[in-house]
Amino acid sequence: MVYVTRREVFSASHRLYNPNFSDEQNDKIFGKCNNPNGHGHNYVIEVIVAGEIDPKTGYLIDLKRLKRIIIENVISKVDHKHLNSDVEFMRDVIPTAENIAVKCWEQLVDKMPNGKLYSVKIYETENNYAEYKG
Ligand code: NI
Repeated sequence: MVYVTRREVFSASHRLYNPNFSDEQNDKIFGKCNNPNGHGHNYVIEVIVAGEIDPKTGYLIDLKRLKRIIIENVISKVDHKHLNSDVEFMRDVIPTAENIAVKCWEQLVDKMPNGKLYSVKIYETENNYAEYKG
């Protein structure tokens, strides 16, 4: 089994907020991330595909192709968008790194031409990331 990783970046804004909580509860749980008009991050997404090497090409998956799949299914939908309101596939969740990772996984899982989606990581900052493996 080999693992191939492609990293992409996108910029987006979000607000961490649960409409079922009071303003005080939202403030207490989400702090600065509950800022009413949102705030931005330069996110990094890392997509890992696992599988067998195709002996004809020596590739598990052509990274140019993986890049196109990520751009088409994720980056084009989230880059320079507000994750709470502009992104169809994020509509029903609080846009934490955890939920972004799960939702991006759902966008990508059935799109792999060879191998299987193994992991999606979302870095919200250099030091913080969430990882989903299905
Ligand atoms: Ni934030």
